[in-house]
Amino acid sequence: MDLYQSAKEEIKRAVDIVELIGQFVQLKRAGQNYVGLCPFHSEKAPSFSVSPAKQIFHCFGCKQGGDVFAFWMAYHQVPFPQAMRDLAEKYYIALPEGQPGRSSRGEAAQREALLRVNETAAQYFHQVLTQTTKGKPGRDYLQSRFVPEDIIASFRLGYASEEWDGLASFLEARKVDLEKAAQAGLVIARKSAGYYDRFRGRVVFPIFNMRRQVVGFGGRVLDHSLPKYLNSPESPVFQKGELLYGLHAAHGAIREKGRAVIVEGYTDGLALHKHGFCEAVATLGTALTREHIRKLKGYAKEAVVVFDADAAGKAAALRSLPLFLDEGLSARVLVLPENEDPDSFLNRHGAKAFLGLLEAAVPIFDFYLDLKMTEAGNRIEGKVEVLQEMIPLLLELKNMVQRALYVRRLSERMGIAESWVLAEIQKTSAHPSGERREQRLGEGFPQAGARKADDRLLLGLFVHHPGVIEQFVERHLNRLVSDATILRILDLMVQDARREGELLPERVLETMSGDPAAELLREAVLSPPICRPDEVEQALNEFEDRVHKMRISESKKQALGNIEEANKIPKLIKKRWG
Ligand code: CTP
Ligand code: MN
Repeated sequence: MDLYQSAKEEIKRAVDIVELIGQFVQLKRAGQNYVGLCPFHSEKAPSFSVSPAKQIFHCFGCKQGGDVFAFWMAYHQVPFPQAMRDLAEKYYIALPEGQPGRSSRGEAAQREALLRVNETAAQYFHQVLTQTTKGKPGRDYLQSRFVPEDIIASFRLGYASEEWDGLASFLEARKVDLEKAAQAGLVIARKSAGYYDRFRGRVVFPIFNMRRQVVGFGGRVLDHSLPKYLNSPESPVFQKGELLYGLHAAHGAIREKGRAVIVEGYTDGLALHKHGFCEAVATLGTALTREHIRKLKGYAKEAVVVFDADAAGKAAALRSLPLFLDEGLSARVLVLPENEDPDSFLNRHGAKAFLGLLEAAVPIFDFYLDLKMTEAGNRIEGKVEVLQEMIPLLLELKNMVQRALYVRRLSERMGIAESWVLAEIQKTSAHPSGERREQRLGEGFPQAGARKADDRLLLGLFVHHPGVIEQFVERHLNRLVSDATILRILDLMVQDARREGELLPERVLETMSGDPAAELLREAVLSPPICRPDEVEQALNEFEDRVHKMRISESKKQALGNIEEANKIPKLIKKRWG
């Protein structure tokens, strides 16, 4: 076994998959396995399953699955070598020198270089803010905004001074490749030669990923000049639509309180943390995305979205409703008084007043309905439009009690009988629009029906009762399998048993890494056993019967028009049953 292989094994031994995934996805025990809402696709009922015994995960909905490495790669969107390095670091396992897996080395190196230069820059900005005279304007500014020292320290805030080459010369002195710094959006190449700083005269908010690595920066001017905020450009490590500012520090509190508070700005997020609302995260000046919600779903039971009272804030709240419904995360809306944002409100009125608003936040559905009804006024056409807009949303609610309650609410608000609303719902669900339907069809278990039931049963029998393998071979049960993929998996299992003296389905799964057929095997491993140990013999007998019947019907087919062959049939039957 090469050194990498043994490091890989060591990581696998050190990491418990339930504990690891549990850090990112809320898992509940269900029999031998743990289940939760899949972080990789949209769903309302948990089909994401993790097996502590087999140390694998599998989503019965979207079919993603595999071992701890597969999870890390998919969740953090990193290639294998990176996943290996990350897990080794997280679990204190030494890796041998050199690089595993050549293929994506360039990509991983690029990410690492960007992270490294960001880290150096974060140290520089923080040091300028906290330790230098150049940093005084930054310190004064943060003080004027009531940002205390402990927040400055824990969120590693910094200051980019007015100079054109403060960071550039700092990096140069440290022999950092300025081309990389340019790729990270920290410096800009001059037309002539050399580089100048991109962030100047701004307080700097480093933005962290879940592993507390600095993936980008937001920089705010100290006065009213524009642009107010300057952010790092998108890069392989910085994707605004997926990142939530402060989540690295908030996830513990979110899980503890069951609630995430989502605000729009860096300073708002920090103000919440300062006032003890450590469950706060901020979007990075973008609308709330599905990816944001998926990230939060792993920690939160509900989200409270804080929006400004202005029209833009309301519009943003409205746009997020379908996403919350679709992702199945309950959400409430907190609307602040006119001309306040969370930062100004907290600093003016304090934590207790904010808590009052938080507790009074209304479910996003009600918020939506109220807003729409107000817009519609007393016009009949307006009400009809509202009804038509609400119906698809009601259909998104998979919880029937909730749906019934909202149907009642809607009918009350509109002043029409519930039965009318229900009739409209029926009409819509019978003829869903083409687009929605397609999306639905893509979900769930597309191949379940396509594969023959016998094939799956046999696979299940193998996986849960590996001892059947001898009988399988002896009794030629492979003849029952019509699905080529399953046949190939069974064949791999037979080979494994021959090679190792005993079949271990997890070992086979490992040898199949990268093979799309592995999902079928994983699914079988994570499905409940098809029969009890004392029923195995009976199951084998039944399968054997089926093989026999198949032989007969095949001979029959061949014998059609061939009397002599047909004569053999009674003999065959006699041989089996006689
Ligand atoms: N934003 C941005 N670029 C801008 C303006 C805003 O990226 N030119 C993003 C920032 O992430 C900012 C968020 O949008 O935090 C909200 O913007 P805004 O409400 O204008 O700023 P505040 O967070 O309230 O900032 P401040 O309190 O410092 O004025
Ligand atoms: Mn503000």
